[in-house]
Amino acid sequence: MMLDPSDPLWEWSVFWHSDQLQSCLPDTSAAGDQSLQATWRAFFDALPTGAEVLDLGTGNGGLATQAVAVSKTRAKPFVIHGVDLADIAPAQFVSSAKDLLTEVVFHARTSMEKLPFPDEQFDAVASQYAIEYTNTETSLTEALRVLKAGGHFRFLVHADDGVLKQRCRLQAGQAEQILNSDLFVATGTLLRRLIDAETIRTAEKIAEAEQAIAMSKAVFDDLEKRFAHDEDRSLVDNLLTAIRTLPGMRRSHSMQTLAAMLEEIRHLLLAQSKRLKAMQNAAVDNAAASELVNFLRGLGGAQVELEAAKTGRDSDCVGHWLSGTKAAKAGDV
Ligand SMILES: C[S@@+](CC[C@H](N)C(=O)[O-])C[C@H]1O[C@@H](n2cnc3c(N)ncnc32)[C@H](O)[C@@H]1O
Repeated sequence: MMLDPSDPLWEWSVFWHSDQLQSCLPDTSAAGDQSLQATWRAFFDALPTGAEVLDLGTGNGGLATQAVAVSKTRAKPFVIHGVDLADIAPAQFVSSAKDLLTEVVFHARTSMEKLPFPDEQFDAVASQYAIEYTNTETSLTEALRVLKAGGHFRFLVHADDGVLKQRCRLQAGQAEQILNSDLFVATGTLLRRLIDAETIRTAEKIAEAEQAIAMSKAVFDDLEKRFAHDEDRSLVDNLLTAIRTLPGMRRSHSMQTLAAMLEEIRHLLLAQSKRLKAMQNAAVDNAAASELVNFLRGLGGAQVELEAAKTGRDSDCVGHWLSGTKAAKAGDV
C-alpha cells in the first residue's frame, strides 16, 4: 500500500514501513555503533528496577529495544513506551528483535509536542536523533513535564559538523539529480517498447525498442559518470540495481505491474530525498546545542551536560549528547 505524501511525516512512515529497526546510525562502523550502544546501556543500567521509560521519536524502536535488553536483566522489568508522529507499526514491519519489540508500548501518530501522558510519569526520557526534528521549545517542555522529579533524560541529536550530515548532504544531492534525470521516463518507455516489440513483432516496433534501449543506456551511462567518484554510492547503486532488474521481469509480469513497480521505486526515492533534506535541516551546531542546554536548565534540568558523540576508529563526530536530571526540588539546579 502506498502512503499518502500529504500525511504528516510521510517520508518517515515510508521508511518505517520497511524492515529497518533504526535509522541514521553509521552503518559501516560496528565499533562506532557499539560505543553509542554502550552509552545508552549505561544510561538504562542506572535506572531503578521497574522504571518507566519513554523513547521520543522512537521510529521502529531501535532505542526502545536497547532499554528492553537491559530490562530483561532486572527482577522487575521496565515499562517502556515509544512515541512517534509517523505511522509506525514495528511488530508488522520489523523481522529482527521480535521478542524485544513486543515489550514496548508503541504510540503511532503521536506528537512529541503533545504527549498523551500525565505529569511526572517517567523515571527516564530518552531520544535518539529525534527531538531536533521538532519544535524543541515545545517538545523539551513536554519531555520534562512527563519526567519525575529526580528522573533522568538523555538525548542524542544530529551535529551540524558530523559525518552523518555529510553523508546525508551527498545522498540528498544524488537523490535530487536522479529524480531530475530522465531515468524514470526512459525506463517506462523501455519497458513498454520491449513488451510491444515482443508482442507485435513488426520492424517498426523492433526499431522503436532499439531506440529505447539506446536512450536508456545513455541515461544510465550519464548517471554512472556523475556519481563515479562519490565516496558513498550506496543510494545510487541500490536504486540503479532495482531499476535494472525490471526489464528482466517482463516475461513474468504485466506492463501494468512493472509500471507500478517503477512508480513504487520513484515514490521511495522521493521519500528518501525528503528525509535526507529534513535530517540536514535538523542538525544542530555548537551554539544551538548550548542553547538547548540553557533551555533545559530553564525548564528545571539539573546537572545538564553537553558532550560530543564520537564513534569508530577515527572518532567521527555523530552528534551531541544532551543529558541531565530533573531537579528534585527548587534549588537543586
Ligand atoms: C531520525 S528518526 C530517529 C528514529 C529512532 N529514534 C532511531 O534512532 O532510529 C526521527 C524520528 O522522529 C520522528 N518525529 C519527527 N518529528 C516528530 C514529532 N513532532 N513528534 C513525534 N515524532 C517525530 C520521525 O517520525 C522519525 O521517526
